[in-house]
Formats: sequence, C-alpha cells, structure tokens
Amino acid sequence: MHCAAYRGQPDAFKKEASARMKEKLEALKLEALAQLEQVTEPQVLNELRVKYLGKKGALTEILRGMGSLSAEERPVIGQVANDVRAAIESIIDTKQEAFQRAETEQRLQAEKVDVTLPGRIMPQGAVHPLNKVITEIEDIFLGMGYQVAEGPEVEMDYFNFEALNLPKDHPARDMQDSFYITEDLLMRTHTSPVQVRTMQSMRGEVPVKVICPGKVYRRDDDDATHSFQFHQIEGIVVGENIRMSDLKGTLLQFVQEMFGADTQIRLRPSFFPFTEPSAEVDVTCVKCGGNGCRICKQTGWLEILGCGMVHPKVLEMGGYDPEKYSGFAFGMGVERIAMLKYGVDDIRHFYNSDMAFLKQFTRI
Ligand code: PHE
Repeated sequence: MHCAAYRGQPDAFKKEASARMKEKLEALKLEALAQLEQVTEPQVLNELRVKYLGKKGALTEILRGMGSLSAEERPVIGQVANDVRAAIESIIDTKQEAFQRAETEQRLQAEKVDVTLPGRIMPQGAVHPLNKVITEIEDIFLGMGYQVAEGPEVEMDYFNFEALNLPKDHPARDMQDSFYITEDLLMRTHTSPVQVRTMQSMRGEVPVKVICPGKVYRRDDDDATHSFQFHQIEGIVVGENIRMSDLKGTLLQFVQEMFGADTQIRLRPSFFPFTEPSAEVDVTCVKCGGNGCRICKQTGWLEILGCGMVHPKVLEMGGYDPEKYSGFAFGMGVERIAMLKYGVDDIRHFYNSDMAFLKQFTRI
C-alpha cells in the first residue's frame, strides 16, 4: 500500500527518506562514539570496528537505502556517511594507538634490566694439569718440527712387545705386566708401540719425526709414585745419519724449554730391548738446581725419561734398512714431569678430582 501512496508524491518521499537516513547516521555516530569511548580492551575495539564499519556492519546497512534517494540528495548523504565513518575511524585509531603505547610501555617495564646489579658468576671449567703438561710438551716438539701421532690403548701383543724386540718369554716383559684382553691383546704398557705403527705407516719414507702422547696401563699397586694407569709421551726420529748427539741435543733443548734455561741433563747407561745403546736421562733438580735436597735425595739429579738409539731389529720390523737408516727414541711419564714441574708429591692427586687441588692449576 505504501508504494502506491509514495508513487503519488515521489519528491516528498525522497526528501523524507534522506532526512531519516541522515538522522540514522547521526544516531549511529553518537552510539558508536559513546560505545567506543568506554572501550578498555583492544579486542572489544576490534569487535566494535566490525560492528560499525565492517562489510556487514551498521554503516553499510544504513547505506543500503541510498538507492531510494534522489540524485541531488545522494552526494549530500554520502558526505554525511563519510563524515560519520571518519569520526568513528578516528576514535578507533586513537584508541588503537593508546593501546599499543600502553602495551609497549608495559613490556618495557616488564623487561627492564638493572645494569647496575652485580653479574652472576658462571663457574668455569679448566684444562686438567696433565693435559696442560701434554699440550706444553707437544708444543715444544711441534716447534722442533715433530708431528703428533696416536695409537690404540688396547694394543696387540705384536706391537706392544714383539715388534719392539721383546719376544714372548723375554725377561724384560716382567717389568711391564699388564691387563690382558686375550692372549694377543692387552692394555698397552707404554707408548712405544706407536713407534712401530708410525714406522710401518710411513712405508720407508724419511724423516720419521713424531711424538705420541697417550694413556698406558700396568699391573701396579697404586702408591704415591705408581698408578695402574698413567700417561706417557713417546718420541721417535728415523732418518739418515741420526746420531746419539742428536738425541742428546734434542733432549737438552726440551728440558730447558720445560724446566728453565739453566737445566742440564746427564745420560746414564741403561737397557731397553728396543734401543741400543740405551740410557736413562736425569735433569738437574728442579727444586735445588743441583745442590742436593730432599726431592733429589741429595744427588742433585732427577730421573725423567728413558731413551736410546732405535735397535736395528726394531728398524727392520718397522720397514727401515738399518744399514741405511738410524734413529733415536725416548719415552717419558707425563705425571712424573708434572709432579716435578709443579711440586706435586703424590701421583694420586691427579686422579682424585679434588677441586682444592685442581683449582691451583686454573691460572697456570
Ligand atoms: N717405553 C719405555 C718405558 O716405558 C721408555 C722408552 C721409550 C725407552 C723409548 C727408550 C726409548 O719404560
């Protein structure tokens, strides 16, 4: 029925529709602004944005009626609608910014760091004194052109004894009883098997010039100077015209770097099946400098290693012709060196993980 009546007065109807729409828009604006004013949470702000400005929101809903407006009214109402939208958007933006500022502020407060607080001290580990000594010895020999080689701790009887000129039933084996895994497999009793392994792997090439650090094992009762497991460093040089004087010079150079420039050495004749001739090497006492004290038992000398010229049979088993080549070898106990250098009186200190003992070495 309405339709018929409007059709009769189209202009009057359109004017009225326009006025109503304007009212609705103003009302919407007031309602929206009032609600938005109250908002305290970003989520609610978002909900209201959708409610008023969204695709299916209140503003769109009102603007659906634009079709029934006259051509002149349309831009007028369009302008009103734009103003309403702008007013609503503006307050939403303002609120949004305020929320963001508040959030940033809150985060800054929460993450505040007092840089004046004293720091937490992180307990720091340190290299074990034995490893320090090994590294130091390695460095000295690396400086003389040596390379570092390693071998297995579970070793074959062949490399540990046989190829070092210690055949089965050789009496010298008694001094190095060990832990046997099988008849032919044992925990190595010294680092000397690495001599043979190195020579064999070099396949006759010269010079052989290596040091070999590592753990060794012996059937020993632990006491202040003995341990069933300890460390050695082996050295071997093979080439043409390698002489006993080369060995002596090398060892002198080593002890002077290790214990100080005044250190002297003396060689005493000794026996090892894998070297000929063989010697024990003493250094002038690190404590008294050779005058005689409790440490050196008043002799002025301390024994530090065994050495000698590589036995021709050992050269041969390593693949080198003893008529053409010669060499020297030496072996020292790392614990012994460390005890002398740092005045440690009991080898067991190195293995007991006693922090009071170990901490003394953190700054060395
Ligand atoms: N291997 C010997 C030992 O453990 C030390 C040594 C090495 C001696 C090399 C001579 C040559 O007692």
